[in-house]
Amino acid sequence: MPIDLAQHIRNIPDFPIPGVQFKDITSLLLSPDAFNETIARMVDLAAEARVDRLAAVDSRGFIFAAPMATRMGLPLVLLRKAGKLPGATLSYDYNLEYGQASLEVHADDVPSGARVLIIDDLVATGGSLKAAAALIEKAGGETAGIGVVIELIGLGGREALADYDLFSLVTFE
Ligand code: PRP
Ligand code: HPA
Repeated sequence: MPIDLAQHIRNIPDFPIPGVQFKDITSLLLSPDAFNETIARMVDLAAEARVDRLAAVDSRGFIFAAPMATRMGLPLVLLRKAGKLPGATLSYDYNLEYGQASLEVHADDVPSGARVLIIDDLVATGGSLKAAAALIEKAGGETAGIGVVIELIGLGGREALADYDLFSLVTFE
């Protein structure tokens, strides 16, 4: 029987504010089989594009991008929230579902023209991933695509990212 990944993603009502149905990946991570299957499916979909590097969005994107990078034999670039990277950085400001943030990358981590596949756990409004793609492009790379485990339908993420190839494993209304 194939693993139903959606069954491993817990719903927490009213987090972080009333009315939000929060999709929680910590329950998925507690199942080694479901986590392993998630990475295998992400790698299969990632292999459809020509990709030179993976880029992971801070912080939950790291959990999925790191095992993907080792399996694919690709360099992994970290896109971090402001003030976390020690070297010379480039940054991009963006709006979150719940506030404002800035994403940074080490300026040297994206070679000119490199095709970068961006990985995160979830797309909601698409603001974080749009900023991630803008940052990759500001650094001189090309966005080869975007991959997420969870796509929340109805919050505008796919529309906001219409310029990019976006794949997801699980969708929720
Ligand atoms: C969450 C999630 C995505 C983003 C999705 O991260 O992991 O990165 O929000 O929302 P959006 O599509 O509306 O931008 P968050 O900024 O909460 O950080 P975390 O991964 O460190 O928890
Ligand atoms: N779950 C997890 N992260 C999120 C969500 C959610 O429902 N919405 C925005 N970021």
